[in-house]
Amino acid sequence: MGPHFLQLPEEILLLVLSYLDGRALGRLGQVCRKLRYFSCRDAVWRRIARRCLNSGFVRQGTDVASGIPVKERVRVSQNWKNGRCRRDILLKWKRNLMPWLQVDGDVLYFTQAEEIRAHQLHGHRHGLHKRPFAVFLGHQEDVCRFVITDSHIISGGGDGKIALHNLHSTASIQFTAHEQDVNCVDCHGGIIVSGSRDRTARVWSLSSTADKRWLHTIQTEDRVWSVAINPLLSSFVTGTACCHHTSPLRIWDLQSGQLMNCLGTEFRRGAGVLDVCYETPSILLSCGYDTYIRCWDLRTSLRRCVNEWEEPHDSALYCIQSDGNNMIASGSSYYGVIRLWDKRMNRCLQSFSLSSPTSSPVYCLRFNTSHLYAVLATSLHRLDFTVYRNQFTAL
Ligand SMILES: *[C@@H]1O[C@H](CO)[C@@H](O)[C@H](O)[C@H]1NC(C)=O
Repeated sequence: MGPHFLQLPEEILLLVLSYLDGRALGRLGQVCRKLRYFSCRDAVWRRIARRCLNSGFVRQGTDVASGIPVKERVRVSQNWKNGRCRRDILLKWKRNLMPWLQVDGDVLYFTQAEEIRAHQLHGHRHGLHKRPFAVFLGHQEDVCRFVITDSHIISGGGDGKIALHNLHSTASIQFTAHEQDVNCVDCHGGIIVSGSRDRTARVWSLSSTADKRWLHTIQTEDRVWSVAINPLLSSFVTGTACCHHTSPLRIWDLQSGQLMNCLGTEFRRGAGVLDVCYETPSILLSCGYDTYIRCWDLRTSLRRCVNEWEEPHDSALYCIQSDGNNMIASGSSYYGVIRLWDKRMNRCLQSFSLSSPTSSPVYCLRFNTSHLYAVLATSLHRLDFTVYRNQFTAL
């Protein structure tokens, strides 16, 4: 590489470098100080990062990890791909529970029976503060699920109630929403959708919930295990038990409460859907008792399953999350198994067993570009993917 190359205008130089792969950029960085500087710039790594797993670049929406150098994001992404991480148990408890989890910035919220606890997370080495800085009460029985909005936590419980907890004051109001357990809730744009063991889903307005009136009641004929509201606020999906109704995945109009579509036709009896999430307004992911993760294209011209991935050990899948691009993480029903999937491949990419030799389902997992948190029956776990090659705990 002659000196003329380095005299190119900076934009051109960066453009040329952006066509190199990671290895070539690494070598180039060894040549001289100036090339080292250019070979580390974000612009040069962006194209590579977009193809990587969980680098923060999503197909729709905003970059979720802006502020961290793109080259570093590619490095950490290689750790996800190779399953290289440090594992920690952050908390343990004695009673078997079915906890649910959410992470919001540096706060981790998770359920312990009828409570929702908020713990401060800090730094990648130190885990979390053992004592919660806030505890949200209001249910008489175990909390089944909850979601977080800008101002509230909205939870559903085994007592048939929905509770709205003010995030800042921890004050809460609750009301009876269903005749049996509220298995699932979602909330978007001032609308709450709840699903219950009583074989109904209900739509509520966040503002008028004080007078306990629902906007719609939907008869699902089966227990409702999961719900999700479409990001465009046009519709929502219910994941049901697949015992009395042949399709466990149905989409309902949010305005009218009318059935819009049933997804799929070949579900076996008992193929209940335990978790659903919208990756984009037209892409839905689902998982459940039939051991498959499925990706649905909801555009009217298609409206079908466009991809599926099978749990290789024939375990039910309790929970999933997508990075909005190429990666999915799933939680299985045995031995606390977490799997990472690259959507471009048929087979599972990595797996981690968090509760061997005893067995527990992974009830919920949440990840960002650097860490994954998971809750099992008696423990809260963290996988830290920021490790350097010589730091990770061997699997
Ligand atoms: C991911 O979560 C950890 C807390 O576990 C936090 O320290 C880190 O900043 C988060 N990363 C991003 C990119 O948000």
